[in-house]
Amino acid sequence: MKILNLYAGIGGNRKLWGDEHEITAVEINPEIAAIYQDFFPNDKVIVADAHKFLLEHYKEFDFIWSSPPCPTHSDIRRCGVQAGQYEAKYPDMQLYQEIILLMHFTKCKFVVENVRGYYNPLIKPQEIHRHYFWANFPIPQKRTYDQRVHNDIIGSQIVYGFDINKFKAENKRKILRNMVNPEIGLHIFNCAFKEKQQTLKLEDFKKKETIVSKKD
Ligand SMILES: C[S@@+](CC[C@H](N)C(=O)[O-])C[C@H]1O[C@@H](n2cnc3c(N)ncnc32)[C@H](O)[C@@H]1O
Repeated sequence: MKILNLYAGIGGNRKLWGDEHEITAVEINPEIAAIYQDFFPNDKVIVADAHKFLLEHYKEFDFIWSSPPCPTHSDIRRCGVQAGQYEAKYPDMQLYQEIILLMHFTKCKFVVENVRGYYNPLIKPQEIHRHYFWANFPIPQKRTYDQRVHNDIIGSQIVYGFDINKFKAENKRKILRNMVNPEIGLHIFNCAFKEKQQTLKLEDFKKKETIVSKKD
């Protein structure tokens, strides 16, 4: 399977996907990309704009995961603006550009992940643990234990087994907070694969049926 992991961060969502796939990760921050590469030496890590990369390469993969930045969609922004702590910002509609592109033009399985926003989503997502997932396959609910108490996270903490103390990077706390729970990453990955496997089995079955009926 050729997999595209966009807005890769340090690879929370990717952690449990194993090493048997050909994974391309795109991350714009070189320090964060270097940490990802250290954790996943077999992945191809590209320092680039994931939004542009998606448009140019979406046809080349079997599975695409995208985690666009959430700050302009999150309730933290709304509360902050209303409390006078932040300036208001337009919600970044690149999120919906990617969802629409993937929904209409890709043949592969995809998932776009973001936080539950402060406004009604413009396209109905699936929802797991206060996160939205737009995907072209069903994602059943999954119980997981979240190691992070978000507000208590500190940069030197080991979160989901990721120890980033030896690396040079700004705002390690944010890097750790940004991660998708690896168990959720695996769950969603399996949902995409399972459906593919079931589809394949069905196709095999149909082929066999045709062969049998031809003999008949
Ligand atoms: C929400 S985090 C991703 C978390 C990741 N999915 C995980 O589970 O660890 C978003 C990441 O996208 C990166 N980023 C922001 N804008 C980007 C862009 N235009 N192209 C590529 N990466 C970008 C940020 O530096 C950040 O690391």
